[in-house]
Amino acid sequence: MAKELESRIKTLDAVFTDSFGEAPSRHFQAPGRVNLIGEHTDYNDGFVLPCAIDYQTLVAVSPREDQIVRVVALDYENQQDEFSLTSAIQSHPSQQWSNYVRGVIKHLQLQGMTIGGADLAITGNVPQGAGLSSSASLEVVIGETFRQLYQLPMSKSEVALNGQAAENQFVGCNCGIMDQMVSACGAQHHALLLDCRSLDTQLISMPESLSVMIINSNVKRGLVDSEYNTRRLQCEEAAQVLGIKALRDISLTDLERQKAQLSELVYRRAHHVVSDSERTLLAADALRNNDISTLSRLMAESHQSMRDDFEITVAPIDFIVELLSSYLGENGGVRMTGGGFGGCVVAVMPHNLVDGAKQLLAQQYQTQTGIKEDIYICKASNGAGEL
Ligand code: GLA
Repeated sequence: MAKELESRIKTLDAVFTDSFGEAPSRHFQAPGRVNLIGEHTDYNDGFVLPCAIDYQTLVAVSPREDQIVRVVALDYENQQDEFSLTSAIQSHPSQQWSNYVRGVIKHLQLQGMTIGGADLAITGNVPQGAGLSSSASLEVVIGETFRQLYQLPMSKSEVALNGQAAENQFVGCNCGIMDQMVSACGAQHHALLLDCRSLDTQLISMPESLSVMIINSNVKRGLVDSEYNTRRLQCEEAAQVLGIKALRDISLTDLERQKAQLSELVYRRAHHVVSDSERTLLAADALRNNDISTLSRLMAESHQSMRDDFEITVAPIDFIVELLSSYLGENGGVRMTGGGFGGCVVAVMPHNLVDGAKQLLAQQYQTQTGIKEDIYICKASNGAGEL
């Protein structure tokens, strides 16, 4: 086990023991994710190509013999929460982090799962608010912990769906299924090609020659939820006018043909979704074949489409993408990743270009935007499981 992970677990265990009087019996983890391509396609039943990253939420746990759940959160000054499984689980009045835990457990119960109590300590190093799915990793690690602790008859995909249901219905954020699925089902050295309608997955091997770099723009994300919901509604409107269940059900050629039925704005939204979903399949092939120049072109097109058609990028993010794409040329790919309106850029490149990319950003990003970037070099990692 890597030294850093070991030391995080040690700290976790110390707080657990301090809070609950005994050492924990088991440990679980679920990772954050970065999406290589296919943005805002998940809730349109389309394709996405994310990978799980080596930043994760960790849980130390011991089962209890009663129906009480006690939780301590290391990243929130060791705040605690306690609730009973015997009456309907309500929202916590002030601790938002508690609501992810409460929501996941409530939804396990709603699905008829028989669970008992537990003591839990939680810590994570997925950057929060950066669009790297720290919330999904929390939902999935809690689901996975209870699945294994109480041997629940659920698949990993069902743990993901349960997390999404908690986020949609308990926390109140209308996300798609991508983040939870890859946090649950990701695999080391692989990206996950996910069909968001059937939830079929294919592991796509990541070429060993490539580094995955995530650049956090550190732009404060405002209006994310309302803009996200507006985009969802516009996509639903497009599907409804076109007489299809979801934008998954139309090809780019047919969309062009039926363009006149849609308002100019709704057409552009639909054009992004349909084209990005098609690009995702092509990008999976390009990765499989180690065809980096095609991957590079597809990622560039995806970014333009998010910028011009879906309008979810912001100027500092566009700046990073332009800077790195002229540096990388056909040797690597770069685009914004995640829901948008700030957050992160993902770049894939040969290892020997990483230092130059970092230098360029260090020289130019802050001067240009007044904000300092953070950079994470990631490894495609395993989805949720016991440590
Ligand atoms: C957020 C949501 C996902 C997905 C992306 C955009 O991360 O949680 O479900 O819609 O935005 O691709």
